Amino acid sequence: MADENATLRIGDETWEFPIRSGSVGPDVMDIGTLYKHTDRFTFDPGFTSTASCESNITYIDGDAGILLHRGYAIDDLAEHGDFLETCHLLLYGELPTPAQKKDFEERVTYHTMLHDQMTRLYSGFRRDAHPMALMVGVVGALSAFYHDSTDITDPEQRDIASLRMIAKMPTIAAMAYKYTVGQPFVYPRNDLGYAANFLQMCFAVPAEDYKVNPVMARAMDRIFVLHADHEQNASTSTVRLAGSSGANPFACIAAGIACLWGPAHGGANEAALNMLHEIGTPDRIPEFIARAKDKNDPFRLMGFGHRVYKNYDPRAKIMQQTCHEVLNDLGITDDPILDVAMELEKIAVEDPYFKERGLYPNIDFYSGITLKALGFPTDMFTVLFSLARTVGWIAQWREMIEDPRQKIGRPRQLYTGETHRDYVPVDKRK
Ligand code: CMC
Repeated sequence: MADENATLRIGDETWEFPIRSGSVGPDVMDIGTLYKHTDRFTFDPGFTSTASCESNITYIDGDAGILLHRGYAIDDLAEHGDFLETCHLLLYGELPTPAQKKDFEERVTYHTMLHDQMTRLYSGFRRDAHPMALMVGVVGALSAFYHDSTDITDPEQRDIASLRMIAKMPTIAAMAYKYTVGQPFVYPRNDLGYAANFLQMCFAVPAEDYKVNPVMARAMDRIFVLHADHEQNASTSTVRLAGSSGANPFACIAAGIACLWGPAHGGANEAALNMLHEIGTPDRIPEFIARAKDKNDPFRLMGFGHRVYKNYDPRAKIMQQTCHEVLNDLGITDDPILDVAMELEKIAVEDPYFKERGLYPNIDFYSGITLKALGFPTDMFTVLFSLARTVGWIAQWREMIEDPRQKIGRPRQLYTGETHRDYVPVDKRK
């Protein structure tokens, strides 16, 4: 703890609040006793100046474009590691030793199948449902099937619930895809790696052999690594808030999926790709840039800007490289959408409007093109994000449950509505 205090003065009264330092990053003013002492709340819509918890999982320096998981840089993990190692790191704090890696992979693999009755849940949904609607429903329904891992006070049950979700998410996501395209479900294959197995569950059909392309599997795995965790973003905060009431882990993750669905969060890569299609050709870019700058036009450049990164999103660089690897392997060298993307990026990052506001391409700018090349329809993009982010949500949820100071999350408000009014019977109302 820093030995400094912050002094708050209102009128003639002053109060002292401790300033606390983390291992890196801005200090925080600990105002936990503010209301008790001053009878006032803070007002911070969108939590732009609020640290909601203490955490040692992920660190972001948005100005420097740095993202660390347990101290490891995201580029290092994406280039040299793999997704299951990243899961181990996020959940247990360390990269696994060779023995731990083998054991962790086996434990995840053991849980890849779904309770067979769960497969019938899908048929209750319309075929044209958005796959995220299926994800919210099916992941929430895990609570009804795995009762033996919902006691959140038992560390072993918490661990089993965590492994179950990491293991079953690809199966649930692939089934959501198969259901919406009208193909039979493909069961997991435990001889394949995590990403390769997911690709085969999505793209294999019973009528023919399917061989996973290793370049595509590597790209998929890297996309999972890049999306694994991102500190206290909206969906993670949703998971923590849902979990703070003592709700079971499956229900909490379903809440995170619901939050992720929105276009300002996980839905942005779908929106970015749609936007690139709408622009169509590089000569139309100036028109769209002008619209993005026009305050009377709600249009924004999708895939640009970030609440935290006011510099290049470090994930976007790796995503761009992965995108090129996939397109090269598939022999797609002159993709018109990629041309628009490259040109748009070039123009926007030089434009004073974007420079002054620190608006750079975020991860979603390139992930949409890559996922499209891998064969996924746009409405699956957010599903893939939720699959990868599940480990981050779980790690953050566990950290919260294990924190002895944990309380139910309960923000307050600045009330601006009517004060007391007497009830008026319906026949007397005008
Ligand atoms: N296009 C044009 N102008 C923008 C954009 C954009 N994409 N993003 C922000 N601005 C402007 C905004 O109009 C404002 O201008 P001014 O100061 O003149 O009023 C200024 O930049 C600051 O914007 P803000 O809305 O206060 O910033 P925020 O931190 O609340 O918003 C954001 C962050 C990600 C919601 C926003 O940048 C955005 O809507 N981007 C497009 C959607 C997108 O790509 N989202 C993916 C985020 S990354 C994935 C994830 O982590 O979930």
